[in-house]
Amino acid sequence: MANWKMQKLASEAKQFIEAFSQKELPSSVDIAICAPFLCLPSLAEQKIIPIGAQNVYPADKGAFTGETSPTMLKEFDVTYVIVGHSERRQILKETDDFVASKFHYCVEEGLTPVLCVGESLEQREAGEAETWCKAQLDAVFKEYEGNFPDDLLIAYEPIWAIGTGKTATAEDAQAMIHALRSHLETLKGQEIADKARFLYGGSVKPANIASLMQCEDIDGALVGGASLEAEDFYQLILEGSANHE
Ligand code: PGA
Repeated sequence: MANWKMQKLASEAKQFIEAFSQKELPSSVDIAICAPFLCLPSLAEQKIIPIGAQNVYPADKGAFTGETSPTMLKEFDVTYVIVGHSERRQILKETDDFVASKFHYCVEEGLTPVLCVGESLEQREAGEAETWCKAQLDAVFKEYEGNFPDDLLIAYEPIWAIGTGKTATAEDAQAMIHALRSHLETLKGQEIADKARFLYGGSVKPANIASLMQCEDIDGALVGGASLEAEDFYQLILEGSANHE
């Protein structure tokens, strides 16, 4: 899954999708592009690659200057919405509660949220990474009695690995994602935990995706920098699909 962040103009998105849709894509992989809002209309015109937004406001309509509702996204056939990305938690000061309300509202509205969790370097060095990420899951799932999306997507993105070129080792990523899946099982039962798809994110590139995809609990990747050029993203998908167990 591509996360373009605030990196592309609508005209560039159009060029990307024209180049990308010429490629022969492996049928065994689910591909999606999470793009800036203004890119979504042009991406929606192609019907091949599902699209996602990078934010949403948890209300249908109203006096929320600058915000975008699920209904507005659905008009452009948006399937996914990234919620709880560390950049929004850190820069936009989104709280666990706000992230949880976005997640729940997306589910009610039939959008598939991609919940991001991840620890800082200080937390990892202090041995607190697992506790922190589990607490981020608690905030969304512990008290939640509502429906679950058919496709429950959770991305483990250690903050220190995002955009830094430093990837978590496959062993560390697997260990954390395994711990998160077990925690989800404790919270919501085995069926939901087994079915959930966990993505790893943080400096994923064609050179390191193979070892990540070979890990038992890792089902996919959330990719920033390496998703911006059609050719790089295509190579990454080929590498990932060839090595996914
Ligand atoms: P990156 O970003 O691949 O550029 O590290 C990943 C993300 O923030 O989702």
